[in-house]
Amino acid sequence: HEEFTKVKNVDSVELGQYQMETWYFSPLPAEYNNCKTLYFAEYDLSFFKTRGEMMRHLRKCKLQHPPGDEIYRCHYPGGRSVSMFEVDGKKEKLYCQNLCYLAKLFLDHKTLYYDVDLFLFYVLCENDERGSHIVGYFSKEKCSEEGYNLACILTLPSHQRKGYGKFLIAMSYELSKIEGKVGTPERPLSDLGNVSYRGYWTRELLKVLKEQEGSISIKELSAATMIKTEDIISTLQHLNLIQYQKGQHVICAAPAVIERHLKQAGSPGLQVDPKFIVWCPYS
Ligand code: COA
Ligand code: NA
Repeated sequence: HEEFTKVKNVDSVELGQYQMETWYFSPLPAEYNNCKTLYFAEYDLSFFKTRGEMMRHLRKCKLQHPPGDEIYRCHYPGGRSVSMFEVDGKKEKLYCQNLCYLAKLFLDHKTLYYDVDLFLFYVLCENDERGSHIVGYFSKEKCSEEGYNLACILTLPSHQRKGYGKFLIAMSYELSKIEGKVGTPERPLSDLGNVSYRGYWTRELLKVLKEQEGSISIKELSAATMIKTEDIISTLQHLNLIQYQKGQHVICAAPAVIERHLKQAGSPGLQVDPKFIVWCPYS
């Protein structure tokens, strides 16, 4: 793929109060190539070659949050308030294309879909008195024949390691639960994506196993978590909690073993509280 081998064309981006070094090439329109810094307006994600142009744009731009429906808002202990906005790629084409350009600077091997019409974008924001500031997002096909519940996922480097990746993954499965459909992320996953998913699957599956009295089948685990059976099997194999006997997968997990693995799986990050989700599946 041509895009993979291209060298980085922008050194850094400025977004809100953050400056970030970029990681990868992004197929920006030619006039933005070889800019040292790209300046993004944080609410509509328009981008500019100078801070002056960006500031002029900001004075005209009345938005204080991404252009979509707020589907989640929660105030957490400690004062953190976050919101998630659902942005329709067809209705807000420019915003979503800009988001893809920005995201590609931090994503290497995913083919980005600039045909944004077919996707919904779930944008996670930190709220303060000035507005809702983007910290990350995931995209999702409106209709996935393959059963994908997530296409791309990104936490902006300025906000990584704060539990937002785990939040985004958890939210993708909460939406699957509301849809009543088993889901899985589109492949390939990056190394960091893989670690985050492995942790989520481990925690969710072990929680169910811990509460379960008697045996439980892979199918039942899938129905309880909306995690695809293949992902359940690979997670349990990785933990050495599954055996293949007489043509069937059998889960063998003693309580002490479950406890040990739960401890090793790390924190759940920023948790999604399902009671604050206000959302209907796309139709
Ligand atoms: N080094 C080592 N482990 C890391 C890491 C790093 N730089 N960043 C994340 N992790 C691991 C840790 O286990 C972490 O849990 P911990 O902080 O409790 O130890 C876990 O991943 C997830 O942490 P979290 O804070 O919820 O994730 P995040 O907000 O940093 O986002 C990604 C995770 C994958 C979304 C983020 O790294 C990212 O956007 N990467 C670039 C884009 C990408 O690769 N997307 C996936 C494509 S499929
Ligand atoms: Na979580």
